[in-house]
Amino acid sequence: MSLTLPKFEQVELCKITQKGMLENGVVDMTFQSVTIAQNTKAGQFVHIRTNDGIAPLLRRPISICDVDVQTGDVRILFQIKGEGTRLIAMKNIGDSLDVIGPLGNGFTVDPRYKRPLLIGGGIGVFPLLLLSKKISTPVTCLGFRNQSQVVLENDFSQTSHHLLISTDDGSYGEHCYVPQLAENQLENHPIDIIYACGPEVMIKCVVEMANAKNIPCQVSMEQRMGCGIGACLVCACKTKKGYEHVCKTGPVYWASEVIFDA
Ligand SMILES: Cc1cc2nc3c(=O)[nH]c(=O)nc-3n(C[C@H](O)[C@H](O)[C@H](O)COP(=O)(O)OP(=O)(O)OC[C@H]3O[C@@H](n4cnc5c(N)ncnc54)[C@H](O)[C@@H]3O)c2cc1C
Ligand code: FES
Repeated sequence: MSLTLPKFEQVELCKITQKGMLENGVVDMTFQSVTIAQNTKAGQFVHIRTNDGIAPLLRRPISICDVDVQTGDVRILFQIKGEGTRLIAMKNIGDSLDVIGPLGNGFTVDPRYKRPLLIGGGIGVFPLLLLSKKISTPVTCLGFRNQSQVVLENDFSQTSHHLLISTDDGSYGEHCYVPQLAENQLENHPIDIIYACGPEVMIKCVVEMANAKNIPCQVSMEQRMGCGIGACLVCACKTKKGYEHVCKTGPVYWASEVIFDA
């Protein structure tokens, strides 16, 4: 009788080569991994061990924001939320980062789609930067709480055909929520696919909008995670096929597959 053992992803110790702390507390970090840089699809993530001790026990998932396949640079941006991200933020240039990745299922990049619209909210904008480099110059709509939270504006302005920013309080860009900003763009541009990443409330609005206009749409569902490799049930997401593990079959899904609770 043969026994099939679960496949565990490779752990890699990666040297941190750049680190910056943005004014709003977001950490912008680059580490070296030729394997990750060469094998990443936009929308995938890395699972990072937070320290050498036993607590916090679980790794933390962070999206891959950008890669350089020539140099092996892998860029991540993350907000310090709790103990795990605080500990990762304490690492410095020259330190090693214990990383598993790239994990998950990334965005579909299909040359048939010529007029993409990217919609990102808050920390959900990070995985969209690599995507914006892989697809034909998108219209990009990014939404933030206020001006101090605005990130990656220069990066997206270089990769986008048209970049629009909104803030919830009107302190920068348009004074509205980002789905509203995107809806205005749908009136002006013949969009043929939508890609979205952000808080669930934003994702729900985007999906309703895409359905109403009959535009294919992919969404990244950044659920809370445990193991990150399909071995626990922390990251369950309700889909038409039943509950799925976001860390294995996601975080990116076609909007038509996901069931959102009312
Ligand atoms: C696939 C994926 C990709 C991600 N990419 C990024 C990224 O690129 N940049 C980034 O800043 N963050 C990202 N996150 C969120 C990040 O993983 C969490 O903020 C982090 O794990 C929190 O760990 P902590 O120990 O610092 O905080 P904890 O002590 O674990 O939690 C602190 C607070 O953050 C909340 N929180 C934890 N996880 C999430 C989550 N997934 N979504 C919303 N709130 C959460 C908790 O409810 C709690 O209120 C991603 C999450 C997933 C699942
Ligand atoms: S985080 Fe454990 S199954 Fe997804």
